[in-house]
Amino acid sequence: MVISLSTAGALLLPVLQVCAQGYTNVSEVPYYGQSPPVYPTPEGTGGANPAWRSAYTRARSLVTQMTLEERVNVTRGHTGLCVGNSGNVSRLGVPALCFSDAPDGIRGQEFVSAFPAQITVGSTFDRGLMYQYGKALGQEYRGKGINVALLPVGSPLGRLARGGRAWEGFGADPYLSGAGMGAVVDGVQGQGVIGQAKHWLLYEQEYRRLPGSEGESISSNVDDRTLHELYAFPFMDALHAGVASVMCSYNRANNSYASQNSKLLNGVLKTELGFQGFVTSDWTAQQAGVASANAGLDLTMPDGGYWGDNLTEAVRNGSVSETRVNDMVTRILAAWFHLNQDQGYPEVGVYNYNVQHPIIDVQDDHASLIREIGAAGTVLVKNVNGTLPLKAPRFLNIYGYDAKLPDSPWTTPSRYGGGYDVNFDWHTFNGTLVTGGGSGSNTPPYIISPFQALQDRVIRDRGTLRWDFDSVNPTIYANAEACLVFINAYASESFDRTTLTDTFSDQLVQNVATNCSNTIVVIHSAGIRVVDAWIDHPNVTAVVYALLPGQESGNAIADVLYGDVSPSGRLPFTVAKNESDYGELLNSTVSSGPFPQSNFTEGLYIDYRHFDLYNITPRFEFGYGLSYSTFSYSNLTVSAISGVNMTEYPPATTVVTQGGQPALWEVLFNITVTITNTGSVAAAEVPQLYIGIPTAPERQMRGFDRVHILCEGHATVTFPLTRRDLSVWDVVAQKWKLQGGSYPLWVGASSRDVKVTGSLKVAS
Ligand SMILES: *[C@@H]1O[C@H](CO)[C@@H](O)[C@H](O)[C@H]1NC(C)=O
Ligand SMILES: *[C@@H]1O[C@H](CO)[C@@H](O)[C@H](O)[C@H]1NC(C)=O
Ligand SMILES: *[C@@H]1O[C@H](CO)[C@@H](O)[C@H](O)[C@H]1NC(C)=O
Ligand SMILES: *[C@@H]1O[C@H](CO)[C@@H](O)[C@H](O)[C@H]1NC(C)=O
Ligand SMILES: *[C@@H]1O[C@H](CO)[C@@H](O)[C@H](O)[C@H]1NC(C)=O
Ligand SMILES: *[C@@H]1O[C@H](CO)[C@@H](O)[C@H](O)[C@H]1NC(C)=O
Ligand SMILES: *[C@@H]1O[C@H](CO)[C@@H](O)[C@H](O)[C@H]1NC(C)=O
Ligand SMILES: *[C@@H]1O[C@H](CO)[C@@H](O)[C@H](O)[C@H]1NC(C)=O
Ligand SMILES: *[C@@H]1O[C@H](CO)[C@@H](O)[C@H](O)[C@H]1NC(C)=O
Ligand SMILES: *[C@@H]1O[C@H](CO)[C@@H](O)[C@H](O)[C@H]1NC(C)=O
Ligand SMILES: *[C@@H]1O[C@H](CO)[C@@H](O)[C@H](O)[C@H]1NC(C)=O
Ligand SMILES: *[C@@H]1O[C@H](CO)[C@@H](O)[C@H](O)[C@H]1NC(C)=O
Repeated sequence: MVISLSTAGALLLPVLQVCAQGYTNVSEVPYYGQSPPVYPTPEGTGGANPAWRSAYTRARSLVTQMTLEERVNVTRGHTGLCVGNSGNVSRLGVPALCFSDAPDGIRGQEFVSAFPAQITVGSTFDRGLMYQYGKALGQEYRGKGINVALLPVGSPLGRLARGGRAWEGFGADPYLSGAGMGAVVDGVQGQGVIGQAKHWLLYEQEYRRLPGSEGESISSNVDDRTLHELYAFPFMDALHAGVASVMCSYNRANNSYASQNSKLLNGVLKTELGFQGFVTSDWTAQQAGVASANAGLDLTMPDGGYWGDNLTEAVRNGSVSETRVNDMVTRILAAWFHLNQDQGYPEVGVYNYNVQHPIIDVQDDHASLIREIGAAGTVLVKNVNGTLPLKAPRFLNIYGYDAKLPDSPWTTPSRYGGGYDVNFDWHTFNGTLVTGGGSGSNTPPYIISPFQALQDRVIRDRGTLRWDFDSVNPTIYANAEACLVFINAYASESFDRTTLTDTFSDQLVQNVATNCSNTIVVIHSAGIRVVDAWIDHPNVTAVVYALLPGQESGNAIADVLYGDVSPSGRLPFTVAKNESDYGELLNSTVSSGPFPQSNFTEGLYIDYRHFDLYNITPRFEFGYGLSYSTFSYSNLTVSAISGVNMTEYPPATTVVTQGGQPALWEVLFNITVTITNTGSVAAAEVPQLYIGIPTAPERQMRGFDRVHILCEGHATVTFPLTRRDLSVWDVVAQKWKLQGGSYPLWVGASSRDVKVTGSLKVAS
């Protein structure tokens, strides 16, 4: 059999160039557009973690009993009921593992919940809810006997304003994304389900994400420091939380496919970050057989890809070592043992939609959590003179296609939200948008539309409703107390957005506002939606970003509009005044030719860092969101934690634990502030800590919390700062480096609304 070496050859070229430039030690190369070789793959051992070590012992004893064909079978996918099915070895009790989407709910199945998308979970800025979300998802995946849940998402991070999948992540900040990644992994794996953090790495655009007739995939070219401080950062939290598998991405990274990028897989992931689990290819992302095996890929999906019999042959002829194949299988089985799935895991209960099958209802009472997260993730950005909350109105006008249920949402069997089709190019979704399109789309058991939930409230208040979901210039009933306009902004896997607005919706809002002095706009958006066409209209009295709230959409927005919940959601991205304000960070790169290149020349300066650097005033900054109450901030204190090592680099250790050097996770300082509720309602507030790391971007978020405070009450919030939070990646030393000197601190209600300041000092 012929093993494809074409892309492996391409991988070697940059190395030769590096050598020709006189570098002798690849770890000192400040690479950019070149991916240095790192071989061989470190064998998984369990590292310093006793539970992982015990899982490895059990996995090894099984692997030694397996024939080469059986071992190779475990490293590939097979057609089956699940989105992915690994090979089984029934004589040794090794089952076919079942892999399933989506990050916001099991896709394509019945009696499962449709959770909010991660962008809504990110906008809660609430670690507790992030954990509860992961736990509830884990319960559902476990209930259906799914071994591996393809979540959470840390890449795309949200580099591009128009990126088609940015809504699948927690938001455009590595600290926020990392908090979400860690908490969701804790939650999902706490239920015994293997989490699969994705997509490793630098997957920031849909355009040319896959190779095709035009040539290879886009190459995300990024410098080593940015790679660590921005893009690998959130994955560190997932690894630290113990994530047992990672999915590699479709794109090339520094000109080497992510599925065979030895620097990213063998180097950063398995050496530097001590990853003990297994790496799965994204579906059809494998591009070569020997190259991917040796670069650190452990499992190819959804079929044999370039492996199967080819891998057996490659081992027989010495192209891939038997040690490497054993390590692949050991890593897969160790993850299975580590999550105790050998001890009575439920049978796979996944079925095709078009056959009759048993009911396996895994919904539990997750609807109430979905409703809570939906409301907590709702971001109020304009509220003139206390327009909101509504005060038991007797008469409402309701407008817009997003207020109603869509006519026929199941555009592919069982999937809400459609997607994939590049020619689709929808800007909006005709019906209420509760998730985006593509593989991240979920399958709601039902949807409470905004109209349904508002109608229930109005009925309770013995009121009257008038509605028009279709017209761009609807009739206004002058006796109504408010006009609610529901619009959305759609995005999907497989294509990037071409606009952050749309003419129909903007005209609808303007037409209503022209005739209605109390116009309230609700936006369900799969990412950024610019609003400058009408945001300053004097009759637009309130504006809410409700993002992607899942099946309880209507109840969640009604809870906020009626004041049962005071809004505390914060924007997990920057909303610009003009789309052009995003500059190079607006569109995907469309460089043509067989080897398209996307140079991340902005380095660390994405989202709010970009607006800060160029002094561009956004419409609504990262972290922004209003409340029904008001808060005062006081008494910022800084306490250095005694007894921890504040050396420039983490103390040398050979100990391997997931997430990198253990010292990176040590808390060095606690910052506290006191928040007082000075308004008239009990409400939650989301204080955020921004720090200035010497030689880094001026302001980066390194702490947040969501606290409920009673009227006239106060709360003390603590932001623990770890060594990692205060370090930069030293590209020469290849270590996280604590900067000596003074770090300015800003604590406030957004990235620009600073309330109290201070500083901390690290001895140099
Ligand atoms: C490989 O796995 C598949 C799917 O579980 C199974 O049907 C097949 O028998 C296995 N083949 C070998 C050689 O073990
Ligand atoms: C496992 O493989 C055996 C053959 O070795 C096959 O009969 C069985 O159906 C497979 N089970 C699953 C779950 O794939
Ligand atoms: C093996 O390699 C051949 C030739 O490149 C390819 O056609 C085949 O799909 C590969 N995969 C498997 C599972 O045999
Ligand atoms: C808001 O209140 C201020 C002060 O009472 C008043 O001047 C202004 O006209 C009000 N705006 C609206 C839109 O009602
Ligand atoms: C939504 O679909 C309805 C038909 O159900 C149609 O009348 C309406 O024009 C569509 N709205 C938009 C904004 O495309
Ligand atoms: C973004 O892409 C659109 C086409 O979708 C193009 O018209 C526009 O010029 C691009 N803008 C920038 C800043 O690259
Ligand atoms: C605001 O609404 C009122 C009432 O319908 C209308 O008379 C007025 O012209 C509107 N203002 C603007 C600026 O459109
Ligand atoms: C990307 O950066 C490389 C290395 O600096 C440079 O050679 C190349 O021309 C750049 N490509 C584009 C499309 O800007
Ligand atoms: C300020 O905060 C510190 C630490 O929480 C606390 O010990 C101190 O009492 C607070 N001082 C005031 C004036 O609130
Ligand atoms: C701190 O780390 C340095 C460098 O590894 C080491 O020499 C020193 O003993 C450590 N100190 C403490 C208190 O652990
Ligand atoms: C620092 O904060 C953490 C987390 O809130 C807390 O557990 C710890 O006790 C604090 N340490 C000190 C010394 O204040
Ligand atoms: C390469 O550089 C790293 C970091 O400077 C150093 O630790 C390592 O020993 C060097 N390796 C060789 C082979 O010189």
